[in-house]
Amino acid sequence: MKLFTATELLLAAAAPIHAAYTWQNVKIGGGGGFVPGFVFHPKTKGVAYARTDIGGLYRLNSDDSWTAVTDSIADNSNWSKWGVDAVALDPQDANKVYAAVGSYTNSWDPNNGAIIRSSDKGATWSSTSLSFKVGGNMPGRGTGERLAVDPANSKILYFGARSGNGLWKSADGGVTFTKVSSFTAKGSFAPDPSDTNGYNNDPQGLTFVTFDSTSGTTSGATSRIFVGTADNTTSSLWVTEDAGTTWSAVAGQPGTYFPHKGVLQPTEKALYLTYSDGTGPYDGTLGAVYRYDITARTWKNITPVSGSDLYFGFGGIGVDMLKPGTIVVASLNSWWPDAQLFRSTDSGTTWSRLWEWTSYPNMNLYYSQSAAKAPWVKTGFLDVDTKDLGWMIESLVIDPFDSDHWLYATGLTVFGGHDLTKWDTTHNITIQVLADGIEEFAVLGLASAPGGSELLAAVGDDSGFTFASSSALKTSPQKPWMDPIFSSSTSVDYAGASVKNVVRVGNTAGTQQVAVSSDGGASWNIYYGADTSMTGGTVAYSANADTILWSTSANGVQRSQYSSSFTSVSSLPATAVIASDKQNNTVFYGGYSSTFYVSKDTGSTFAKAGALTGATAVRDIVAHPKIAGEVWVSTDVGIFRSTDYGASFTKVSTALTNTYQIALGLGSGSNWNVYAFGTGSAGPRLYGSGDTGATWTDIQGASQGFGAIDSCKLAGSSNTAGQVFVGTNGRGVLYASGSLSSGGTGGSTTSTTTTSRTTLSTTTTKATTTITTTSKVATTTTKATTTTVKTTTTTSASGSTPTGTVPQFGVSEGFS
Ligand SMILES: *[C@@H]1O[C@H](CO)[C@@H](O)[C@H](O)[C@H]1NC(C)=O
Ligand SMILES: *[C@@H]1O[C@H](CO)[C@@H](O)[C@H](O)[C@H]1NC(C)=O
Ligand SMILES: *[C@@H]1O[C@H](CO)[C@@H](O)[C@H](O)[C@H]1NC(C)=O
Ligand SMILES: *[C@@H]1O[C@H](CO)[C@@H](O)[C@H](O)[C@H]1NC(C)=O
Repeated sequence: MKLFTATELLLAAAAPIHAAYTWQNVKIGGGGGFVPGFVFHPKTKGVAYARTDIGGLYRLNSDDSWTAVTDSIADNSNWSKWGVDAVALDPQDANKVYAAVGSYTNSWDPNNGAIIRSSDKGATWSSTSLSFKVGGNMPGRGTGERLAVDPANSKILYFGARSGNGLWKSADGGVTFTKVSSFTAKGSFAPDPSDTNGYNNDPQGLTFVTFDSTSGTTSGATSRIFVGTADNTTSSLWVTEDAGTTWSAVAGQPGTYFPHKGVLQPTEKALYLTYSDGTGPYDGTLGAVYRYDITARTWKNITPVSGSDLYFGFGGIGVDMLKPGTIVVASLNSWWPDAQLFRSTDSGTTWSRLWEWTSYPNMNLYYSQSAAKAPWVKTGFLDVDTKDLGWMIESLVIDPFDSDHWLYATGLTVFGGHDLTKWDTTHNITIQVLADGIEEFAVLGLASAPGGSELLAAVGDDSGFTFASSSALKTSPQKPWMDPIFSSSTSVDYAGASVKNVVRVGNTAGTQQVAVSSDGGASWNIYYGADTSMTGGTVAYSANADTILWSTSANGVQRSQYSSSFTSVSSLPATAVIASDKQNNTVFYGGYSSTFYVSKDTGSTFAKAGALTGATAVRDIVAHPKIAGEVWVSTDVGIFRSTDYGASFTKVSTALTNTYQIALGLGSGSNWNVYAFGTGSAGPRLYGSGDTGATWTDIQGASQGFGAIDSCKLAGSSNTAGQVFVGTNGRGVLYASGSLSSGGTGGSTTSTTTTSRTTLSTTTTKATTTITTTSKVATTTTKATTTTVKTTTTTSASGSTPTGTVPQFGVSEGFS
């Protein structure tokens, strides 16, 4: 990392104040994605973290909520650092936290991975780049933790790499890492060796590093360390007894299945291990649970079920540190009828279940389940699916200071509770959604209707959400977009002259994937014109809501009027960018490559219109919400504006180039602000203009990453002056507000609120220890390719292996 020099700090302090806004999440609530790992601090009560596969790291608060702590590290060039493959805490210092970050070990990730470290519970970070990639969103990401700090020596860390890169050690508190040459196992299993894209054919590497805190020390370092590897042989659990000098496979180990977790119970001097016949997180048809007695060096198979009851592998295992012998273990994926959780209070000799069949199809459920903090999880998931307990249960922990407090995570959310010991008394516990503050959705489309709904958010791995007003942005919705529920919604639009009319499209073939609402997105109906063959892409609603234009993912551009069947629009190229004029019902716009198109017959035919001089890629088209004929176009050379229905264009500024999504939002008075992701004076970021695009101000700031700007969605509020929404690929929807000067020289725009100024000074201070965000150069070509990959959310059938870089398995599973 780069440390600021004193001079640079002074310069930073003296720099003109930019209107970096204060960003916060729109509260969808309930997580919305996979949480592959939790870590509790072993010696300080209440310190815990949850890692996500695409949305960074979260820290637990005492009120059960979570705070995102890695927003600063994932700027445009470092978007992949929001993939967290492991997190580790220093048992001797509760302020310290480490994480292995990076998203993919193949070409989808342009950067090598890093170990980031913080000495203030994630408020600020330093980073050490590794010489290889880290796969936070790769197969096997729920094993772990593959990063650990020596409990006897805060300077010593071990990291178990993927891709055959072996075991790495730091002896200086995570500043530098060197390969442990005496450790030769690599974890060579790959889920699909024939996969040619580098995703499923990559060796899974090491699965966990577990120090034995009871083993004493050798030259100041913990003597005994266990390391799991992604092998299903008798050499998948390794041990050193001399603090890492020599290693050997632990004698007597099972030799079938892959070890996912290895959790030490120090009082018992036992290592509890879960195994599955795949490396997860979607698979597993067989597995086992073992207890290794460290003193006696004996193995005991404590698998809770056998025979036909055993049709899944095991993932998460929670070990009660206060009650030796008490453990909870979960099926990794039991797709029907639901997951199963097992609890033992005698070190795995006997088990009880969280539910049982009585007389089929009746079950005794030894739990109740609620979603008070994310009501949509109940209405949109628990009420309509059998798999209430979930799937992809790789993480399960019992609070080391509170035997009643536990957490486990699924592909959808975090569940847990505060009465776990009732399992042993009344045998009936209370499970709640405990993902408050985790906002992990990949956002695929945003809209804000003037005089209508403040925010419509189409998301991946769930249907989407409506926020009726600005005040609703702080409250988790009562329900997702339902009736129909889509497994993902890829786009949403409102009718500009009839704003209660909203349309959305989804991406699952086999059912109709267009739905309409006439109450602003509160309730929905299937759109009768849709057949079951077309999916995905983007949608535009005519101003009066009589015509839908749909740029599908694989069937070209389609049009339907008055609920008639969709018919192909041959005058627009397939996958064209489309938009509707928001006030003139007859007008639609299209863009493809360097060409801008206009339709004056409600989308039946399109003709080439005004030139976008110098542009070779139309990236986005936005019509003014209130003014007919005013249309804005984002291209690889910047932004163009037309006030004559696209007949002619003016480039608004040369200060902002290579722009991606753009949006108009209510500004001061009757002025409309323009927002754009593009490359300006502060690099590739989010900018705002209050003077019709003449001047642009960095409103993102250095401390708020949004990931790759070419995958971000953008909407300006049409109802609340100065408010702007950013949809991320894994950190939900973030929003902020401020004011942008609407005239004069422009460019000297300042934030107007004290809050923003306070944030600025904080940011400046943080820069001394934070990963710096200076001099970032985006390689557009690479990123464009990457984005295609990243946003290709493949929803596969239950239990099958994803074919793309599926960010997480969402509730889509529940409806397949
Ligand atoms: C190990 O896993 C591979 C791949 O799934 C499988 O073909 C093989 O039979 C497994 N070996 C054992 C010993 O289970
Ligand atoms: C457990 O408690 C819930 C909530 O009171 C109840 O609905 C359920 O029937 C109980 N389970 C059993 C097996 O009694
Ligand atoms: C809407 O656009 C059409 C086609 O350009 C034009 O003929 C018509 O005058 C416009 N209507 C209004 C109200 O501006
Ligand atoms: C990206 O992160 C790496 C560490 O992971 C760091 O060395 C590099 O400076 C970062 N790049 C930018 C542009 O911030």
